[in-house]
Amino acid sequence: MDSFAFIIHPINPKQDVKRKFPFLGKILNEPLINFFSLFFPPIYLSEIQNITSESTGKTIKGWFIACPLTAKRMVELPEWIVYHKIVQTGRMAQRLGADILGLGAFTSVVGDGGITVANRLDIPVTTGNSYTIATAIQALRKAAKLMNIDIGKATAAVVGATGSIGQVCAELLAEEVSQLILIGRNESNLQDLYSKMNDGASAQLSISTDLNTLQKADLIITVTSALHAIVHPEHIRAGSVICDVSRPRDVSKAIASSRDDVLVIDGGVIDVPGPVEFNFDFGFPAGEAYACMAETFALTLEERFESYSLGKQIDIHKVKEISAIAEKHGFRLSGFRSFERPISEEQIKNIRKNANRD
Ligand SMILES: NC(=O)c1ccc[n+]([C@@H]2O[C@H](COP(=O)([O-])OP(=O)(O)OC[C@H]3O[C@@H](n4cnc5c(N)ncnc54)[C@H](OP(=O)(O)O)[C@@H]3O)[C@@H](O)[C@H]2O)c1
Repeated sequence: MDSFAFIIHPINPKQDVKRKFPFLGKILNEPLINFFSLFFPPIYLSEIQNITSESTGKTIKGWFIACPLTAKRMVELPEWIVYHKIVQTGRMAQRLGADILGLGAFTSVVGDGGITVANRLDIPVTTGNSYTIATAIQALRKAAKLMNIDIGKATAAVVGATGSIGQVCAELLAEEVSQLILIGRNESNLQDLYSKMNDGASAQLSISTDLNTLQKADLIITVTSALHAIVHPEHIRAGSVICDVSRPRDVSKAIASSRDDVLVIDGGVIDVPGPVEFNFDFGFPAGEAYACMAETFALTLEERFESYSLGKQIDIHKVKEISAIAEKHGFRLSGFRSFERPISEEQIKNIRKNANRD
């Protein structure tokens, strides 16, 4: 049977360690988990069963395996140490017999976005970024409709626009919206992106390093590799939609409690085809997965055992192709979730009303 492995790692250290080691999660505080994560070996988590293609009936299996490093450690440690840990985890995937390896969260963010890891392994590697991009745009379009926002007349913003996922999200949005603000930390990287995009874009482009610029945006995709929330209640305007693709999340939880006039949705949440059993609780309802996981599953169903999304430059054609492959096998955008909870049509109606968008 064709198979895959997918690497996850602790993002919210206490909560995530508790899922596998309840006792350690209870007694260790976050700084200690960060410290000890360097000394843990790769960890086998579970076998994933019964992912079944809607169109071909093919069933595949796979494994969740964990790289023990926390997001904070991945950012702080020298790259060679982080690569070494990810490659060690990848070798576990090889021993299990996986045909392809998916890199979750910061294991795909660090350094060159999977290239070094792929070079050191004997199986292909994918970051999942192509399908993450495709589904972030799909979700934003759908949410815009629900909030009565005419996408063709809207102002959109991408936070983390110079990043691997952010850049292509910006390129795709520039074909659809009226104005697009590229937001990042580094002015000269933003200027380079602006110059690259400005020739063909139908939207009017601008750049900013100031998150207060979000006040001008109706539609926002935020996709940075920040370790803590950076988008706060005072940054956004009533009636806007924010799709938070980042893990850890970019959008402050304070928005959930203090702004009943904005729609925040978790980006990249996908319904997986077939009676899938993950056999590990990664915090999602049954049958749902992150888009980056879904890319690995879809490539396995399609028998495309190649390093599909790799490196920091994502090919826009692959974004469209993986979207079609996933659609064919029955992967679909899940119902909206906000801060990890389902959000009902009634709640969206109230948000619309509070923002005078009815
Ligand atoms: N939901 C999913 O299925 C899924 C899938 C894949 C990835 N992700 C998440 O997506 C995020 C981005 O991934 P990526 O591969 O695009 O990473 P990336 O290529 O490293 O890009 C990250 C971007 O974030 C910016 N950034 C970092 N810290 C920042 C801060 N404090 N304030 C503002 N901007 C900041 C970086 O700008 P500088 O150039 O200034 O550093 C860079 O432009 C990560 O959180 C990752 O875990 C989610």
